[in-house]
Amino acid sequence: MNLKLNLKNKVAVVTGSSRGIGKTIANGLFHNDCKIALISRNYDDLLKAKNEIGGDNESIKIYSCDISDFNEVQNVFKKIIEEFRTIDILINNAGLTKDNLLLRIKEQDWDRVVDVNLKGCFNTIKAVTKQMIRNKSGKIINISSVIGQIGNAGQVNYAASKAGILGLTKSLAKELGSRNITVNAVAPGYIETDMTDNLSEDIRNELYQKIPLNRLGSSKDVTNLVLFLSSDKASYITGQVMNVDGGMVM
Ligand SMILES: NC(=O)c1ccc[n+]([C@@H]2O[C@H](COP(=O)([O-])OP(=O)(O)OC[C@H]3O[C@@H](n4cnc5c(N)ncnc54)[C@H](OP(=O)(O)O)[C@@H]3O)[C@@H](O)[C@H]2O)c1
Repeated sequence: MNLKLNLKNKVAVVTGSSRGIGKTIANGLFHNDCKIALISRNYDDLLKAKNEIGGDNESIKIYSCDISDFNEVQNVFKKIIEEFRTIDILINNAGLTKDNLLLRIKEQDWDRVVDVNLKGCFNTIKAVTKQMIRNKSGKIINISSVIGQIGNAGQVNYAASKAGILGLTKSLAKELGSRNITVNAVAPGYIETDMTDNLSEDIRNELYQKIPLNRLGSSKDVTNLVLFLSSDKASYITGQVMNVDGGMVM
């Protein structure tokens, strides 16, 4: 038995792949021989990510898209399927925070976070499911967060959106299991990216006390699990939530 992932020529779409965890996941998939479609809003950042990852224009393509916009997502995914002929793997990674305590949070900050983090997953899943059913195979991996499991003061919108992803993942795993499509969620803890860049030294020290492995995670820590779940080595795993959090939540 070997642990070769055998992802050669699989087509993977990674949302939010212009930077952070998504870019590292895209890089990992590409260097395991997948063809990849990168999605985020900012075209220049996507181009930079594409150049960093390397590869020719056939095996890596970029698509500027706001994943909270249902029609835009359907059109972009139609284009991806036309250009790559199929989508085998969908990584729903794009996400954002707009933190505030409930008493201060504005309605639009609630809506925006839920629209991007949760409805964004629905939009992309709607766009790939029919052809995955036709292919009788597919892997869908949704990036949630430990905050969706344990909550966090000042993040009601973010926590609700990430908890929503868990319900979506489990329901969809039940709907699509008989079609040989697996659906799983990955819940990172605190990972070093732009999203966590502004944590103060004090908050970091507080966090280290709560993390048995005593450090923040890296995008590579998350990517290793996502690569495994994207491969047929994980073909009997569906509807699961897996934490990559240094033992923070157990
Ligand atoms: N970093 C952590 O500690 C941590 C912990 C737990 C979970 N997570 C989750 O992991 C995922 C990635 O986090 P990260 O830290 O890598 O974040 P990041 O560095 O801020 O990157 C977010 C990515 O999402 C894209 N994005 C944001 N809004 C979008 C939209 N409406 N449509 C399309 N793309 C959009 C961004 O590009 P544009 O701005 O150009 O669109 C960017 O590529 C998120 O879902 C986050 O909630 C992160």
